[in-house]
Amino acid sequence: MPKIIIILWLLSFSLMNHSSALNKFVWRQTDKAVVKKFLVQHCYDCHDTDIQKGELDLESMNFDMSSRDMLYKWSRVHEMIEHGDMPPKKKNRPAAQEKENVLKALARTLQVAYKQVETLME
Ligand code: HEC
Repeated sequence: MPKIIIILWLLSFSLMNHSSALNKFVWRQTDKAVVKKFLVQHCYDCHDTDIQKGELDLESMNFDMSSRDMLYKWSRVHEMIEHGDMPPKKKNRPAAQEKENVLKALARTLQVAYKQVETLME
């Protein structure tokens, strides 16, 4: 799993100076539902449009994975959840199964989105 994140990191830098118009990325509905539920329960308290801790507004990101910028942000979200950095320690911990499910859904989605970006770069 972390390999995907590293690739995305590198990709985000290599694309830094390009403004390629990417197709609107479409999520699998089941994955989107899993991720949305998790974010609403564990993240929106601090990262919605009203309260943007760390200047992160997950709500207005609106599940957009159609650009380099967005892929970078979503890969950070995956990373924070995976490492247990977010939600912060003082908050309720997500259940292990819940965490596993959200990471799977995110990783699968990032992987497909990454391929799409890669194809469009060729
Ligand atoms: C209790 C408030 C709170 C909750 C809940 C919370 N965060 Fe955060 N988050 C913060 C604060 C404060 C920062 C900025 C300071 C920091 O990085 O610790 C931050 C920063 C971040 C960043 C930016 C880090 C970076 O440098 O790229 C990401 C990504 C993030 N949070 C993701 C999440 C995700 C995903 C969730 C839900 C699983 C979540 N956060 C839940 C308070 C919160």
